[in-house]
Amino acid sequence: MKNFTEQVIVVTGGAHGIGKATAELFLELGARVIVFDREQPEKKTEIDNLIIDLGNLSDLESAVADVVQKYGRIDVLVNVAGISVPNTILDLELDKYFTTLDVNLHAPLFLMKHVGKIMVKQSYGRIVNLTSIHGKLSEPTSTAYDVSKAGLEAATRTVALEFAECGVLVNAVAPGFVATRMSIVNGQDELESDWFNEVYIKNKRLPIARPALPIEIAHVIAWLASSSNTYMTGQTLTVDGGLSVRF
Ligand SMILES: NC(=O)c1ccc[n+]([C@@H]2O[C@H](COP(=O)([O-])OP(=O)(O)OC[C@H]3O[C@@H](n4cnc5c(N)ncnc54)[C@H](O)[C@@H]3O)[C@@H](O)[C@H]2O)c1
Repeated sequence: MKNFTEQVIVVTGGAHGIGKATAELFLELGARVIVFDREQPEKKTEIDNLIIDLGNLSDLESAVADVVQKYGRIDVLVNVAGISVPNTILDLELDKYFTTLDVNLHAPLFLMKHVGKIMVKQSYGRIVNLTSIHGKLSEPTSTAYDVSKAGLEAATRTVALEFAECGVLVNAVAPGFVATRMSIVNGQDELESDWFNEVYIKNKRLPIARPALPIEIAHVIAWLASSSNTYMTGQTLTVDGGLSVRF
């Protein structure tokens, strides 16, 4: 794995799950890591935590400015923070829809703008956006989430084009099932349910017959974010244990 020594890395959603594993991996690889999250992580580490609700889009520019003032540069931005609020289209209320879109799509998009400005000036940067297999595949009750992830994949492509000649590479990682608290719906962990075991494990719908661990996603993010990625941009890398390959 590449060394990130002296690099300054912003990870959103780094208090839990995939973001936490990613922030800790970058720390291990020598980076100075700043987490943007609305929650304080449980464990105290050398990670710098900025408590922010990313849904408040007007706060993003000053949060980025604070990082630049303190650290002088930003080499990597990883947009991990996300929420999923299941609702059928008939039950979907405007405020819930916009909260999902603001956190999952608009915040990453405007962070790409504010951080991108710094990266273009530096002539170096790597951006990785967390989408989902929901960017391309759908299930009932998931309209807002699906739209947000498909939108983020589109934004990844467009921003990649705009930054391609500036040394700034922009990609997305689309996981399938990952063992985090996001899989807990109404108090039940769907990855531990009889339904999941029957459909995905016993019936072999999920070829690698288990959910991913957050660190398995973090390793893919880290490669895309590293200086050894020199030619891949505008892409979404699916990391789903083969789930979306099976007919
Ligand atoms: N877990 C999965 O199965 C799975 C699958 C595909 C994609 N994803 C995506 O991966 C990303 C991370 O998910 P996870 O499973 O680690 O979830 P998680 O709930 O464990 O972590 C999400 C993090 O985002 C933070 N966050 C949420 N809303 C925020 C806000 N408004 N402001 C600031 N921080 C906020 C939370 O506090 C938390 O630390 C999300 O974008 C999610 O859509 C997850």
